[in-house]
Amino acid sequence: MSTTQDTTMLGKTGIQITSIGTGTWQWGDTMLWGFGRGYQEADVREAFEVSLQLGINFFDTAEMYGSGRSERLLGSFLPLAQAPLVVASKFMPYPWRLTKKTLLNALQSSLKRLNLERIDLYQMHWPFPPVPIETWSEALADAIGQGLVRAVGVSNYDEAQMRRSYSTLAKRGVPLASNQVHYSLLNRKVEFNGLLKACQELGITLIAYSPLEKGVLTGKYTPDKPMPGLRGRNYNRAYLEKAGPLVQILRETGRQHGGKTPSQVALNWLICKGAVPIPGAKNPRQAQDNGGALGWRLSEAEIAALDEASARAIGAKE
Ligand SMILES: NC(=O)c1ccc[n+]([C@@H]2O[C@H](COP(=O)([O-])OP(=O)(O)OC[C@H]3O[C@@H](n4cnc5c(N)ncnc54)[C@H](OP(=O)(O)O)[C@@H]3O)[C@@H](O)[C@H]2O)c1
Repeated sequence: MSTTQDTTMLGKTGIQITSIGTGTWQWGDTMLWGFGRGYQEADVREAFEVSLQLGINFFDTAEMYGSGRSERLLGSFLPLAQAPLVVASKFMPYPWRLTKKTLLNALQSSLKRLNLERIDLYQMHWPFPPVPIETWSEALADAIGQGLVRAVGVSNYDEAQMRRSYSTLAKRGVPLASNQVHYSLLNRKVEFNGLLKACQELGITLIAYSPLEKGVLTGKYTPDKPMPGLRGRNYNRAYLEKAGPLVQILRETGRQHGGKTPSQVALNWLICKGAVPIPGAKNPRQAQDNGGALGWRLSEAEIAALDEASARAIGAKE
């Protein structure tokens, strides 16, 4: 299987996306990721170019990443692509945004920053109150009606919230394409709370964010080599100690596949579970490494062994 053939359909939209995408929160974010310190615009541009060379056609951004900078950078790179890409962005329902019109206004701003006439996948970033899910779902359907968006999705919705959005959109003849949620070998809640199953039942793509658990599953952080910055608070020494044996199994499994890296095995495990992981890449090396998750699959026995190792690392059903 060549990398470019490793694709899947985005929900029931007919839009083909590669089995992994590239996350772009890192592109412009200074607070958590430290853009401008250690990596620069040239690095993320090369990450984009390498993703293209690997056949990756799916890029995920959001209006709030780097306060619009991620959208602007991605928009400036898009003309480098020879073939059409699938660009996803997100609307944040800030508490002062109270009407459907605010979504359409924010969408127009995203389109300007991306320098596009239409966004392929427009997602609700969070199901925050006070505006009901139904109202935002109507606004998403309006955006499709106005030709500003090709498909719509949600993010961080639990099963009940996703079903409400799905039904509202269905009444307008619009399929809910995706739900983007936290899913990795170190966070498997979606397997146990019914969300993954509901996505499969309804034909909704589960897009897995933080698929490398913000770097833990790459194996480069250890109790003696802690995570830098704010990330180190959640992924502290005790956490990295617990994750160690799982990372070791990722390494051994990779060896059985001709030298795949822990990141590649961790991403492949998500593909095998039916999700579309969107690892964030700060530079061409990371993009190249992550792209190596395409074009092959773990065996059933390897998936089961990783399931067990992950359960030991994070505790049962967490
Ligand atoms: N919808 C939402 O609420 C939501 C929330 C979070 C993320 N997202 C999306 O999901 C994407 C991915 O999630 P994420 O950024 O949180 O976490 P992630 O993909 O699990 O981790 C990304 C980080 O891991 C390190 N890394 C990535 N690939 C690597 C490699 N091959 N080798 C070594 N290190 C590597 C890099 O950081 P260092 O080099 O600094 O270690 C990178 O910034 C985001 O970019 C964003 O598009 C969405």
